[in-house]
Amino acid sequence: MKLPSNRLFFIFIALTGSVIAVLGIVLGQLFPFLMEKIFLTNHIPFTEEQIDELKIQFAFVLALLLLIAFLLIAYIGNRLIQELLNPIENVTQTARELIKGNYLARSYANGPATILELRKSINILARNLQEIEKMREIEEERLKTLIENMGSALIMIDREGTVSIANALFLEEFHLTFLEVEGRNFLSLGLPRELEKFIDQVFLTELPYRKQIEMEINNEKIYKQVYGAPVVGEHGRWLGIVIVVHDITELIRLEQIRKDFVANVSHELRTPITSIKGFSETLLDGAYRDEKMLLSFLEIIYQESNRLQVLIQDLLELSKIEQHGFKVQLEPTSLKDVLIRAVEVTSPKMDEKNMEFDVDIQRDIKVFGDKNRLIQIFTNLITNSITYSPPHTVITLRIKEDGDHGIVEVEDEGIGIEKSEIPRIFERFYRVDKARSRNSGGTGLGLAIVKHLVEAHRGKIEVESTVGKGTCMRVKIPLYREN
Ligand SMILES: Nc1ncnc2c1ncn2[C@@H]1O[C@H](COP(=O)(O)OP(=O)(O)OP(=O)(O)O)[C@@H](O)[C@H]1O
Ligand SMILES: [Mg+2]
Repeated sequence: MKLPSNRLFFIFIALTGSVIAVLGIVLGQLFPFLMEKIFLTNHIPFTEEQIDELKIQFAFVLALLLLIAFLLIAYIGNRLIQELLNPIENVTQTARELIKGNYLARSYANGPATILELRKSINILARNLQEIEKMREIEEERLKTLIENMGSALIMIDREGTVSIANALFLEEFHLTFLEVEGRNFLSLGLPRELEKFIDQVFLTELPYRKQIEMEINNEKIYKQVYGAPVVGEHGRWLGIVIVVHDITELIRLEQIRKDFVANVSHELRTPITSIKGFSETLLDGAYRDEKMLLSFLEIIYQESNRLQVLIQDLLELSKIEQHGFKVQLEPTSLKDVLIRAVEVTSPKMDEKNMEFDVDIQRDIKVFGDKNRLIQIFTNLITNSITYSPPHTVITLRIKEDGDHGIVEVEDEGIGIEKSEIPRIFERFYRVDKARSRNSGGTGLGLAIVKHLVEAHRGKIEVESTVGKGTCMRVKIPLYREN
C-alpha cells in the first residue's frame, strides 16, 4: 500500500496512536482494579495468583485488541486521506506545471464536488493560458517577420545602450554577425561614426529624428536615410530607441545620372549650335560674298545640323526604348538574314576605309527576336568596329550557339578598349576618347541603345578587348524553340 507522503497522514497516525495508547493505559489500570474490587466484594473464591494471572491475560487481550483497532483506524484513515488529498495533490501538480510554463498540463483529479469544481477551473485556466500563449507566439512571429522583411535595416537599443534587436539586413549592411551584436553596447560594434553620432542624438533628445547620412563602408561611399525614435512602453516608460536605416545609394546614383544626363545633353547640343551660330553670323557679317568661304561654311553648318539631327534622333530613340513597357516584337528570326542586312547597311562605310568583312555565317540559327531591332543592334556594333579601327583591317562576323542562345560575334582589329573602361562604354554619352569619337560624329548613345535592345530580348552582351589589338562584341539572343 502506497502511503500518501503528506504530513497530515502522519499527524493523524500519531494522534490515533496516542489516543489508543492513553486508552490502553487507562483501561489497563482501570479494569484489573475494578475486577479485583468485584471479585472481592462478591466474595468470589479466587486466589491472589489466579487474579494476577487473569490480569496478565486481560492485559494481553487488551493490547491485542488495541493493536487491531489501531491498524484498522490507520487503514481507514489512509484510505480517507487518499481519497481527499490525492486529487488536491494532482490539481496542485497541474498548477505547478502551469507556473513552469507548460500550458499543455491538465488535471484529471476525481473526488467530491469541490474537487471537481477546482479541477474544472484549473483546466479552464490552463486552456486560456494556452490560447494566450498561442496568440503571443503568433504576434511574436508576425513581428519577427515584419522586422526581418521590412526592407530596411533595423536596430533596437535599450536604455543602457545595449542592442536588444538587430535584423538580418542590419547585420548584413554593417558586416556584423548575430553573436557580435547580441547584448553588446552599440558603441562597441564598430558602426560608422556618423551613425553612432545619430544614435547619440536620439538618446540625448529622446525625440524622433531623421537624417540623410553619408558613410564609408569597405572604402565604398554609401548613402543612408536614417530614422530614429524613442521606444515608449506602458505608463510612458522610456525603454530605449529604435533606428531604421534605409539605403538610398541607388537613388542618389540615379539622381546623379539624371543630373549628368541633363548636363551631357546640354553640352552635346551646345557644341553644334555654337558652331552653326558662329558660322552663320560670320556669313551674315559679309563672308557670304566670298563664294569659297560661303560654300565651306555652309558645308560646316550642314554637317553640324546633321550631327544635331542624329543626336536628337538617338535621344528620342533611347527615350522610347527606356520607356516603361517598351517591348520588342519577338518572332522566329534568322540570324543570318539579320547579319546580311547589317552588312549591306554598313558596306559603304567599310569601303570608305578600305576595310573588309570576314563572314562566317554558314550555319543559320533561329533566335526569338525582333528582326529590325536586331539589325539595329548589329549595325551599331559594326559601325563602332569601323569607326574605331584603322583602314585596311578586317571585321569578322561569326554565328554560334550555346544551347540556350544564338550568339553573334563582331570582332575587329581596331584600337581596343582599356579593361577599366569596358563596364562604362554602355553608359549614355560615355566615350573612351572624347575628342576622337566626337570627331567621328559619335554621340556616345549607340551602345546604351544596343544594351537596352539586347536586354529587351532577354539577351546578354559581352565585351572582350585588348588595347591596340582589337575588340570582340558578343551578343547572345535566346534561341527560338518550336514548342
Ligand atoms: N569596337 C570598338 N573598338 C574600340 N572602342 C569602342 C568600340 N566600340 C565602342 N567603343 C568605345 O565605346 C564608346 C561608346 O560607344 P558608343 O557606340 O556608345 O558611342 P559612339 O560610337 O561614340 O557614338 P554613337 O552614339 O554614334 O554610336 C565609344 O566612344 C568608343 O570609345
Ligand atoms: Mg557607336
